[in-house]
Amino acid sequence: MVKICCIGAGYVGGPTMAVIALNCPSIEVVVVDISVTRISAWNSDQLPIYEPGLNEVVKQCKGRNLFFSTDIEKHVSEADIIFVSVNTPTKTRGLGAGKAADLTYWESAARMIADVSKSNKIVVEKSTVPVKTAEAIERILTHNSKGIKYQILSNPEFLAEGTAIQDLFKPDRVLIGGRETPDGLKAIQALKDVYAHWVPEDRIITTNLWSAELSKLAANAFLAQRISSVNAMSALCEATGADVLQVSHAVGKDSRIGPKFLNASVGFGGSCFQKDILNLVYICECNGLAEVANYWKQVIKVNDYQKNRFVNRVVSSMFNTVAGKKIGIMGFAFKKDTGDTRETPAIDVCKGLLGDKARLSIYDPQVTADQIQRDLTMNKFGWDHPIHRQPMSPTGVKQVSIAWDAYEASKDAHALCILTEWDEFKTLDYRRIFDNMQKPAFVFDGRNVVNVEMLRDIGFIVYSIGKPLDPWLKNMPAVA
Ligand code: UDX
Ligand code: UDX
Ligand code: ADP
Repeated sequence: MVKICCIGAGYVGGPTMAVIALNCPSIEVVVVDISVTRISAWNSDQLPIYEPGLNEVVKQCKGRNLFFSTDIEKHVSEADIIFVSVNTPTKTRGLGAGKAADLTYWESAARMIADVSKSNKIVVEKSTVPVKTAEAIERILTHNSKGIKYQILSNPEFLAEGTAIQDLFKPDRVLIGGRETPDGLKAIQALKDVYAHWVPEDRIITTNLWSAELSKLAANAFLAQRISSVNAMSALCEATGADVLQVSHAVGKDSRIGPKFLNASVGFGGSCFQKDILNLVYICECNGLAEVANYWKQVIKVNDYQKNRFVNRVVSSMFNTVAGKKIGIMGFAFKKDTGDTRETPAIDVCKGLLGDKARLSIYDPQVTADQIQRDLTMNKFGWDHPIHRQPMSPTGVKQVSIAWDAYEASKDAHALCILTEWDEFKTLDYRRIFDNMQKPAFVFDGRNVVNVEMLRDIGFIVYSIGKPLDPWLKNMPAVA
C-alpha cells in the first residue's frame, strides 16, 4: 500500500488529501499538523474550514484511508510520498520584507523530514513557493540525507476556495514538475499514478521543476490582473456613464478573452493573489527586471485604489461625513461560500470607514465574531498601503458590533455596504430593510449583487460598482 503524508492541514492540504483519499482507496493518506486544535477539529464533526461538499467527502473516508494526526514524525517517516502544504506568508521583516515569501515553515518542515526519514522519499511542494525553492529544499535534504534518496516535485494546487471540492474532482489541469533525470521521471510517474485514479491523462501536465513553480505564480498573477483590469474599467464606467456589466459581457464574448473572472468588485482578496504577485515582483527585482516588476506591482496598486475608491464614494455620498452614523456591513469573507477572511477587501473598507468614525454593524453568514474583531484590531503589515498604516484607535473596537443577520445589521443604519457576494444578499426583503433604516437610505454594492432599479424604486440611493451613477451621487463632489 502506498502511503501519503501531508504536512499542513489547512485550506489546501485538508481538502486535497480528502479528495485523494476518496478517489484512491488503495492509498493511505495521513494529514499532519503542528496545530493540535486544527487536527482535533478535523477529527470532529465540526471541520476547521467551511467548504461546500467537504463534509461529505471527509465523512466517507475518515478512519478508512484518511487520517488526521499530530504525530508528525511517525507519519512522515512511514510515508512514501510527502506533500508539504504549510503556510508561506509574505515576509514582514528583514531582507525582502513586504514582498518575499517567508519560507520559515517550509524550511523547518524540510529539516524535520531529513531528521526522521529512514527510507527514500518523494517530497512534493504543494504550497505556492518562490521559483527555485525546490532547489533549496533539495539541498537541505541531500546535505542531511544519511544516504537516503529524495526526489523533489512541484505540484502546485489550483483550487479556489468555495469551489475546492469541485475543482479537485474536475481540475482544469494537474501540474507536476520534476527533475529530468531517470529518478526524477520515476518520481513524476509515481505522482501521476496517484492523480490518474480520477483525472484524465491529458489533463496531467509534466514540466521541469521551475516551470511548475513559476506557472503557479503566473496563473495567479494573470487572474488577479483580469480583476484589476475590469476594476480599472469600472472607475472609467462610472465617470462616463457606461455600465461595467455590459462592457465586461461584450469583452468576454471575444473567445480570445473569455467570459470568466471579469466581475468588477470592491477588490480581490484571499490568501494567494497579493502574496503571489508580491513574490513575483520580488523575484523580478532580484533578477534585475525592474520594468517587469513594476508591471505586476500595478495590479496590486489598482486593487488598493479600488478599495480606497469605494470608501471615498461612501463617505462623499453621505455628505462627506460618516462620523457616528451606523453602517451595515454585509459580508466580511473575501468571497462567497467561504469563512476565510485572509486579505479580504472588507478589512480595508471597514478600517477606512472606522477611520472616518463610522459605527459598523457587520454580518457574515460564515465568519465568526472573534475572527472579525481579530482582523480589525490586528495591525496588519502593509506593503505600501496607506490604509493599513493607520493603527486602529482603542475606541475603534467599540465602534464595531457583530450582527446575527442582515436585518439586524441594517436596522437604524444610514447605509449598507455589500462587501461579499453571498447569494442570500440577492433575495433579502429590501422593502423591510428600507423601512427600518434612516433616511436617506444608501446602498453601496461592492459586488454587483442587487437589482439597482428595484432598490431605487423602493427609495434607496444606490451605488453599484461600475454602473451608471444615481443622480444623487452625480451631484456629489468627485471622488479620486
Ligand atoms: C487586433 C484585434 O485582434 C482585433 O480584434 C481588432 O479589431 C484590431 O486589432 P490585429 O491588430 O489585426 O487585430 O491583429 P492581432 O491578431 O490582434 O495581432 C496584433 C499584434 O499582436 C500582432 O503584432 C501580433 O503578432 C501580436 N500578438 C498577438 C502577439 O505578439 N502574441 C499573441 O499571442 C497574439
Ligand atoms: C485563487 C485562484 O483562483 C486559485 O486558482 C489559486 O489556487 C488560489 O487563488 P481563491 O483566492 O480561493 O483562488 O479565490 P478566487 O475565486 O480566485 O477569488 C479571489 C478574489 O478575487 C476574491 O476576493 C474574489 O471575490 C475576487 N474576484 C474573483 C473578483 O473580484 N472578480 C472576479 O471576477 C473573480
Ligand atoms: P493554506 O491556505 O496554504 O492551506 P493554511 O494556513 O490554511 O494555508 O495551512 C497551513 C497549515 O500548515 C497550518 O495549519 C499550520 O499549522 C501548518 N504548519 C505550518 N508549519 C508546519 C510544520 N512545520 N509542521 C506541520 N504543520 C505545519
